[in-house]
Amino acid sequence: MKICIIGTGYVGLVTGTCLADFGLQVTCADQDEKKINLLNSGGVPIYEPNLEVLIKKNVSAGRLTFTTVLEKAVKQSEVIFIAVGTPSNSDGSANLKQIKKVAQQIAHYLNEYKVIVNKSTVPIGTATKIKEIISKNQNVIARSEATKQSQSSPSPLRGEGGVRVKHPFDIVSNPEFLREGSAVYDFTHPDKIVIGTNSPKALKIMQEVYRPLYLINTPFVTTNPETAELIKYACNAFLATKITFINEIANLCDKVGADVHQIAKAMGLDGRISPKFLHPGLGYGGSCFPKDTEALYQFATICGYDFKILKGVISANKRQRELMVEKIKHHLGVLKGKTIAILGLAFKQNTDDIRKSPAIDIIQLLLKEGAHIRCFDPLAMDNTKKIFLNLTYCQDEYETAHNSDALVIATEWNQFRNLDLLKIKKILKSPILLDLRNLYNPDKVKSLGFDYEGVGRK
Ligand SMILES: NC(=O)c1ccc[n+]([C@@H]2O[C@H](COP(=O)([O-])OP(=O)(O)OC[C@H]3O[C@@H](n4cnc5c(N)ncnc54)[C@H](O)[C@@H]3O)[C@@H](O)[C@H]2O)c1
Repeated sequence: MKICIIGTGYVGLVTGTCLADFGLQVTCADQDEKKINLLNSGGVPIYEPNLEVLIKKNVSAGRLTFTTVLEKAVKQSEVIFIAVGTPSNSDGSANLKQIKKVAQQIAHYLNEYKVIVNKSTVPIGTATKIKEIISKNQNVIARSEATKQSQSSPSPLRGEGGVRVKHPFDIVSNPEFLREGSAVYDFTHPDKIVIGTNSPKALKIMQEVYRPLYLINTPFVTTNPETAELIKYACNAFLATKITFINEIANLCDKVGADVHQIAKAMGLDGRISPKFLHPGLGYGGSCFPKDTEALYQFATICGYDFKILKGVISANKRQRELMVEKIKHHLGVLKGKTIAILGLAFKQNTDDIRKSPAIDIIQLLLKEGAHIRCFDPLAMDNTKKIFLNLTYCQDEYETAHNSDALVIATEWNQFRNLDLLKIKKILKSPILLDLRNLYNPDKVKSLGFDYEGVGRK
């Protein structure tokens, strides 16, 4: 089966590569020439564990290609995945410009029956919109030509030029649940596959696409497109709520001297709660949770529903960054002129993605206070350099700490868990460690002579 993926970003590239590894013939298309040239010359534009190896394997096997030429990619494929960005508008709602443009492009290149699968995260009703755009913009061709091109039966239209036809297509909403930093693993070992479509034919084709996952007993949730669209937002909003909840408990712990780790452990042992997403810190970030919570809130508002919990989650998450800066101030006093060493820039470990990264937000707040920033991240330095010219970028953790007034751990990279703290203490101007990811045991660090603070435990 031939597959085309439109949008070769975190989701598109991982989806295309993994589907090629399932044995399908995949073309990944993107309008970004630089990205496609890089991929065609053996480079990989993003970091994801195991992705590079898998791309190389499938390119060599002839199952995976990259192109900027959408027309050929669409025409030769039976299933077209849309995996373009859905960033936020200024009011927080989802911006569907990229989706709409792609739908128009697909419409022009339809040459036979195709399944159009939307993988981007979108508000309810977008599948219907995509369908309308494709139907409206489809080229109408003469019946004889269509019959030559297509085995399936195009629908006849009566117009000025006699009998004309449009090619049939079906729409599927197939939201993606992979996590950056473990995207290949997540795609190949998902908790579930959600397929939202009203077409039994498209459903059968999608089951064929995901057959390797079906064979390992992955649960399939088959539903209508609207429900599938809302499932994705519901999952992200719920996870964002869970993170925010434990952060709120951590903030309360800070006030009363309780230990949030013991609380999270006990909560997690409750089978109804589960231990996942109960790690206190700087608040959720990344390319999905912040924009998806905002988009769901805006969508609910437009529907006339005041989604109160979500409103609270969004504002508490913003406040969490501010509270972390207050913590730093509590130890350093006035920040103007102080040098702060930040370890970690990516929004989480194992990724180079800094979109809505809590570390970046904290840096922004510290710069506003007049602090000077030294920083280090194993993978996200290049992306950060594109937005901040005025930081001191260092080679490693120790160069970062050198002569700084405090060390702040902002991303939970494994390599930050075992720092030589005595060395760090010697090279810091003052031995202050703000562990905003709770990587260290407070008592141990304090016993080394540090002024230490984590989140929700002293
Ligand atoms: N990143 C994640 O972890 C994740 C997880 C699940 C779902 N999602 C959702 O998946 C979607 C894509 O996210 P992403 O992080 O992969 O985005 P991304 O920004 O990394 O990639 C989007 C790609 O689409 C390309 N593009 C845009 N318009 C195009 C067009 N007309 N033709 C060809 N290419 C075009 C862009 O050049 C870019 O390379 C979003 O809706 C996002 O919310 C993301």
